[in-house]
Order: sequence, then structure tokens, then C-alpha cells
Amino acid sequence: MKKLSISVFALAGALIVGPAHAQDMPKVDAKRLEEVTKAMWPKTPEGWEKRISFDETQAICSQYRNDLPQAEFDKVKARELATVKFPADGKVLGDWKAGQRAANNGRGGTFTDKPMTNGGNCYACHQMDRFELSYGTLGPSLVNYGKDRKFAPEEAKAAYAKIYNSMSVLPCSTMPRFGYHGFLTEQQLKDLTALLFDPESPVNK
Ligand code: HEC
Repeated sequence: MKKLSISVFALAGALIVGPAHAQDMPKVDAKRLEEVTKAMWPKTPEGWEKRISFDETQAICSQYRNDLPQAEFDKVKARELATVKFPADGKVLGDWKAGQRAANNGRGGTFTDKPMTNGGNCYACHQMDRFELSYGTLGPSLVNYGKDRKFAPEEAKAAYAKIYNSMSVLPCSTMPRFGYHGFLTEQQLKDLTALLFDPESPVNK
């Protein structure tokens, strides 16, 4: 077993480290890749098809390896921004305590999970406050996020849009598009925005 895992890693290493230039990259048959991926999910529940196929934005990000030429960058940003639905009541701030629970919840996304039971798992990538010691660093620290922006309502609205669809701000972002995919509910998005913008939230303490 040990031998096997070593050889698998060695192989992966060779594939990743090997080619130094884009032109040396092994050719990938996109159509075949799509077929193999689909075949891995023979019992896809209804509505899941979207989750195993690339949308237009993901396809172009892959094509350019997340480094879009300016014209494509602008096009993707406009398209993603058009998907952001703001709350009908115009209020982007919910309950920061519920937001804290959603931010700390890494559960969700299985066949039986409903959006309401999914978590945002924000701490996996972000430091959110000074009190939680366990957090990831893929994303920037969000400590004092609202305070640094003087709790300005237009900044809160921008943060709501960011969480709804990260690519509406930065095309090809590695941050999940929580609202776009219907992964989190509108109420959860409001609660998470409040976590960043409520003066009483631990983020701003
Ligand atoms: C898989 C990792 C990942 C997860 C999970 C994640 N983010 Fe992010 N986030 C990032 C990265 C990377 C960036 C920086 C690049 C960008 O702006 O898209 C970022 C940027 C941000 C920004 C903008 C920061 C700025 O400089 O203005 C906000 C706000 C944010 N995230 C909030 C959240 C919230 C709230 C959650 C949970 C619902 C979350 N993120 C979950 C990776 C993640």
C-alpha cells in the first residue's frame, strides 16, 4: 500500500512539475474528459447537471488558466455581475450571529443537503475575527472588514455582491459563488454580510 501511494504521488509530481511551458502541456481531449466526468455520476439527482459541467465563465477561465486578457476579463465581470440578485427589500444586513454560524459551518453540498442546511465555510479560507484560532489563508484576512470601510452601506452592498458571486468582482476567483449556485439562501447571504458589517460582530472587535 505504502509503495503504491508513493508511486501515485511521484506520478502526480511528474505531471505537475514536468512541463515548464504552456506549449509543452499534455494535450487534453476536452470532449473525452467531459464524457468520463459525466460517467462518474450515473445517478445525478435532478438539478445537479449544472454542477458537473462548466458554465461559460469557468470554461474561459480554464482556457486562459485564470489569467484572462483584459477584454475577456471585462466581459466575464459584466456577465457575472448581471447574475447578482439583491434582496427585494433592499436590506443586505441580516443577523450577524446567524452569519457566524453559517461562516463556521463546513457542512453541505451533498445530495441530501438543502440550501438552508449548507454552510459557507468561510473560515476554511479566511481569518474572520481575532477570536477563532483555526482558519485558512487562501483568502485575505477579513478582520475589521466593516470597521475599515466605516460601515458604509454601499460597501455592505458590495460585500453582499461579492459573497453572492465572487466573480462579479474578480473574474476567475477561487472563492465559491454562493448565491449564484443557490448554495446559500438569501437570508444566509444577508446574515454573512452582517457578520462583516455589524459593529457588534466579532469581525469588528
Ligand atoms: C475556497 C476558499 C474561499 C472560501 C470558502 C471563501 N472565500 Fe472569500 N475569498 C477567497 C479568496 C481567494 C479571495 C481573494 C480573491 C477574490 O477577491 O476573489 C476572497 C475574497 C473575499 C472577499 C473580498 C475581500 C476584499 O479584499 O475586499 C470577501 C468579502 C470574502 N471573500 C468573503 C467571504 C465569505 C463571507 C465567505 C463565506 C461565505 C467566503 N469568503 C468564503 C476565498 C474563499
